[in-house]
Amino acid sequence: MKPVKIVGLGKYLPPKKLTNSDLEKMVDTSDEWITTRTGIKERRIAEDMPSSELAYRASQQALKNAGLGADDLDLIIVASITPDNFFPSTACRLQSLLKARKAAAFDISAACSGFVYGLTCAWQMIGAGLYKNVLVVGSEVLSSVTDWQDRSTCVLFGDGAGAAVLTEATKKSFLSSHLGADGSRAALLNIPAGGSRMPASQQTVDDKLHCIKMKGNELFRVAVRVMVDAAKISLSKAGLKPEDLDMLVPHQANKRIIDAVVKSLKIKDKVYFNLSRYGNMSSASCAVALCEAYQESKIKKGDIVVLDTFGGGLVWGSCVIKWAL
Ligand code: COA
Repeated sequence: MKPVKIVGLGKYLPPKKLTNSDLEKMVDTSDEWITTRTGIKERRIAEDMPSSELAYRASQQALKNAGLGADDLDLIIVASITPDNFFPSTACRLQSLLKARKAAAFDISAACSGFVYGLTCAWQMIGAGLYKNVLVVGSEVLSSVTDWQDRSTCVLFGDGAGAAVLTEATKKSFLSSHLGADGSRAALLNIPAGGSRMPASQQTVDDKLHCIKMKGNELFRVAVRVMVDAAKISLSKAGLKPEDLDMLVPHQANKRIIDAVVKSLKIKDKVYFNLSRYGNMSSASCAVALCEAYQESKIKKGDIVVLDTFGGGLVWGSCVIKWAL
């Protein structure tokens, strides 16, 4: 296997902010409830922008930071549960926007773990010698699948995109990855209609079955266990322990979930949070968090960085990176 590293990161957050006090005017909720139960204060809303457009802006920044052009890309992977269409893939739309003429392109559906699934694919494909430069993007317009009358979900989600460019390296930077799934728990978090299982009809639209449905309480308990296990397994695959970690970049779903993971791993203060500003952006959460942690100098060269995610599916994924930027 050739060594692989991240050489550029980018993000795009649409400018429109939806604050907790805005939500107080829309549903029966309060800033106090949302803040104490989730840690979220505001989220971004992409007005009339599909996921590919958000991905495009994040990718341009990542390419610029990598010192590469779109023509250098061999492969584009987009992780999204809010793709522009069933097909063509959002990755194909992004390829067209970027004019990345020689790049292959495909989407990944792994919900909030999509970015880590994508990084793992890119790492392995570069490592195997199939490609040299790969762009991985997590991009979501969750506002398009949110039921704005359901207070139990609409306060949680937001829109955004994060991107990473990976390339061949001389020293090992990606140290390990652990991906997992439990499809028997699909009912905990899903969008019931719109696919071949329940095609769109007037009834499905009336019943809001094209929106996110979630059993928050049950999911909360599973999330903590799954994220702790995933981080421990990926670290042990890299021959490391939680105490060796310099920065945990977790999926940003709920501050209480992250606090419980941090407590269990005993890694106080070695964690990056940004969900108060953005809410849960599914595949984009970890991507944007990684980008911001680096931009804010919370991650430096040589650090052991652990990405740790879980999401609807259920799916989980954790990746250990010895930071090389
Ligand atoms: N504002 C005010 N009250 C609300 C509310 C809101 N936005 N949403 C729910 N409530 C109410 C409920 O109706 C319930 O009222 P009741 O006791 O009168 O029935 C009460 O608050 C408690 O609801 P509950 O669902 O038990 O709250 P919780 O402490 O579990 O917090 C979540 C709810 C969703 C924040 C929490 O379960 C969670 O974060 N789960 C994980 C979700 C997740 O990670 N999803 C993404 C996975 S990628």
